[in-house]
Amino acid sequence: MKLLEAIEKRRSVREFSSRKVKWSDILEAIDAAARAPFAGSINNLKFIIVSNEKTKNEISKQCQQNWIATAPYIVIACSDETRLSSLYNFRGPIYSRQQSGAAIENFLLRITDLGLSSCWVGAYADELLKQILSIPEHINIEAVLPIGYAKSAKKTKGVNVSFEKMINWEKWGQSKKPNRFNDPSTRDHGFS
Ligand SMILES: Cc1cc2nc3c(=O)[nH]c(=O)nc-3n(C[C@H](O)[C@H](O)[C@H](O)COP(=O)(O)O)c2cc1C
Repeated sequence: MKLLEAIEKRRSVREFSSRKVKWSDILEAIDAAARAPFAGSINNLKFIIVSNEKTKNEISKQCQQNWIATAPYIVIACSDETRLSSLYNFRGPIYSRQQSGAAIENFLLRITDLGLSSCWVGAYADELLKQILSIPEHINIEAVLPIGYAKSAKKTKGVNVSFEKMINWEKWGQSKKPNRFNDPSTRDHGFS
């Protein structure tokens, strides 16, 4: 699958089929996460792969989202900001959250590429989830990622905010594209 296709196909899926998922595919997605940019090349991520039914139910309960337990696997993405904080001071925790997000998106794109589906779940009771999974206190939970094959195909979606609202040219607040950007556009993004 080409990159653009994976970007366009990735959707949050919350209903999974009973089709078996290969655990090695999850390692493939973690491999993609590990290729994200990391401040100082410090990969501070850890992943927990859960397939035990009882544990999946407990995770689902702590997220207050019953559908999560129906996924064959749940991956918990975690980060340890200790080393980043000692190297980069107040920026350490910021970098840690930023690079976790970049890695999670890589993970989701590779999941899509493998024909699998997921959903980035960010609502959970951190402390209770840590207890269930024996995660140490100083570790942050970055995302809960249920993985499975989608029960039904989801439509790709458009960009729901106009480029005019998102893009500034040369400086903040300048929405009109200057003439010096005069090379032809490869796609119609609404700018003349
Ligand atoms: C930080 C973050 C937290 C999220 N938390 C949840 C969540 O707790 N439950 C859920 O069903 N979806 C959650 N989502 C998924 C969004 O609802 C979803 O990405 C959004 O509706 C856009 O749909 P799409 O992913 O199909 O493009 C979260 C997404 C992000 C980035």
